Amino acid sequence: MRSPWFSKLFLIFGPRLPRNWLLLCLICILVVIALFGSSPSSAFDSVASTAEPQIYTNYRRLKERAASDYLELRSLSSGATSPREFSLCGRDRENYVPCYNVSGNLLAGFKDGEEFDRHCEAYQEQQNCLVRPPKDYKIPIKWPIGRDVIWSGNVKITKDQFLSSGSMTKRLMLLEENQIAFHSEDGLIYDGVKDYSRQIAEMIGLGSDTEFFQAGVRTVLDIGCGFGSFGAHLLSLKLMAICIAAYELTGGQVQLALERGLPATIGSFISKQLPYPSLSFDMVHCAQCGIPWEKKDGMFLIEVDRLLKPGGYFVLTSPAIQQHGSSLTTKKGSMFKPIEEFTKKLCWSLLSQQDDTFIWQKTMDAYCYISGKQNAIPPCKDGQDGQSYYQPLVPCISGTSSKRWIPIQNRSSGSVLSTAELEVHGVRTDDFFEDLQNWKSMLRNYWSLLTPLIFSDHPKRPGDEDPLPPHNMIRNVMDMNAHYGGLNAAFLEAKKSVWVMNVVPIGTHNTLPLILNQGFAGVLHDWCEPFPTYPRTYDMLHANGLLSHLMSEGCSMRNLFLEMDRILRPEGWVVVSDKMGPIEKARSLAAQMRWEARVIDLQNGSDQRLLLCQKPFLRK
Ligand SMILES: *[C@@H]1O[C@H](CO)[C@@H](O)[C@H](O)[C@H]1NC(C)=O
Ligand SMILES: *[C@@H]1O[C@H](CO)[C@@H](O)[C@H](O)[C@H]1NC(C)=O
Ligand SMILES: *[C@@H]1O[C@H](CO)[C@@H](O)[C@H](O)[C@H]1NC(C)=O
Repeated sequence: MRSPWFSKLFLIFGPRLPRNWLLLCLICILVVIALFGSSPSSAFDSVASTAEPQIYTNYRRLKERAASDYLELRSLSSGATSPREFSLCGRDRENYVPCYNVSGNLLAGFKDGEEFDRHCEAYQEQQNCLVRPPKDYKIPIKWPIGRDVIWSGNVKITKDQFLSSGSMTKRLMLLEENQIAFHSEDGLIYDGVKDYSRQIAEMIGLGSDTEFFQAGVRTVLDIGCGFGSFGAHLLSLKLMAICIAAYELTGGQVQLALERGLPATIGSFISKQLPYPSLSFDMVHCAQCGIPWEKKDGMFLIEVDRLLKPGGYFVLTSPAIQQHGSSLTTKKGSMFKPIEEFTKKLCWSLLSQQDDTFIWQKTMDAYCYISGKQNAIPPCKDGQDGQSYYQPLVPCISGTSSKRWIPIQNRSSGSVLSTAELEVHGVRTDDFFEDLQNWKSMLRNYWSLLTPLIFSDHPKRPGDEDPLPPHNMIRNVMDMNAHYGGLNAAFLEAKKSVWVMNVVPIGTHNTLPLILNQGFAGVLHDWCEPFPTYPRTYDMLHANGLLSHLMSEGCSMRNLFLEMDRILRPEGWVVVSDKMGPIEKARSLAAQMRWEARVIDLQNGSDQRLLLCQKPFLRK
């Protein structure tokens, strides 16, 4: 269990308890009054009748004081001027993901897979309610055990999906009635992921999969990741694997991966580009991921090419290919033939094929596309290669004229970026390292503030255990305005076992390539829209300067906070850092969300403030 001490503390100091205590006291007093004050057949009758007026006035005074304390507490917790708290949504919204409404999309005429795409145009009927946890929801199990065992009540999965979970990336087991177990390091459940990873390493010419990092493979996009076991293995090799899969009504691969504490977002590229710039990943992996690669004039492969860095790898494992022909000289009607033709036009070379796994390498030579060799697909004209935020798929090659066209094999071997590498991203070395230094001290501040005691009006009682800092209570972190990824770097430096989803808001300097180059997870996002993830998938949300930015963009702060509440798990944390004005507004919204909130003055003479919040575990 994550933090039993914490639950205990919450029981003792629970911020909602003072009210209940007062009510309880009130009831006790009423009972006492009833017993002693008005019992006609009491032995104390004669005494009581003379004492009655005094008791009555005392009682009234007590009652009045209790009532005024109660009102004061209420106004304190909800903000005197703010509107009412939001109510909980209906049970039908427990797994609500805005912008993904399959039945609605079908009605609107989307088909051929596009019904699973993100359609935020239809996201108008915003309901002002808080998405509630399922009845059997439990706080996730601590990392690293939580990677291999999750509560089945926390995810939406059906019995049938258990039974059909035979393929390698989807192997799992029901341990006990309310738990799901995945691969475990001790080999309790054999899922073949380690052998598979070793096979891929050998196929690209490495001795073993521990050499991926040295060979320049740091970030992997795992399309249709099953339940994330391959990614979990890559993480253990110090690689960053981001799982991406289309929205699913039940058995969501992204929901399960996040529940295990593995990086994942909802995403599909049926008609629109993924929200990553060109030249983002070192490897794109698909094991039975369900993408019809041979269809749509190779557009899906062109999108993979856009995402891959020069010299990067595309790994495709598909028994469907093998069934129709296991060698290059395939039979008619196979799906391999069209794929093979497209990959030639993309200037990819087939490195190796074993069983049903194929590995292609993207060219390191941008000239390949220009020279017109192999009927290559032409490079995009200027403007077609801009900030790719759900732009339509394009039938041209992106990134060939970018300063970032650097083969992954030319990477510096260390994990720290060199001055030259920073220069490519238009960032000065001084700025970068000053920012990092700043975040190291900020993180220390956050960590010391993130103890539950600060959310209590009660002092620590004698005999209580000292609460430990919340180690391991936080695994999935989102930095909603990540800048250079400094918070992520500070977390790693402090050896916290977290991963950070570094979100680069559109309309700010696009630092996402720099973030990914450090081996971090990240994504572009417009915070005026909902984030593509399932409810309750993050343990902590952090936003530095985001509110000021969004106020200038003119989007609804209330919608943003409702969205933050949706993606934050019960008892999760929010840290907002901004100027006093936006923080005041945020505090009143936090009260509407029913979060416990504290504003902290950094006491350094600036009007910068911190807002620390904790989402309560609301069951009813
Ligand atoms: C999905 O769309 C349908 C049809 O437009 C609508 O009736 C339904 O309420 C929508 N569901 C959600 C969860 O928004
Ligand atoms: C990558 O390294 C190779 C070999 O060291 C070198 O020839 C090539 O110019 C480098 N490419 C870039 C873009 O730096
Ligand atoms: C106060 O601290 C914040 C956070 O570290 C920082 O951004 C700000 O520049 C500081 N202000 C002054 C006047 O030092």
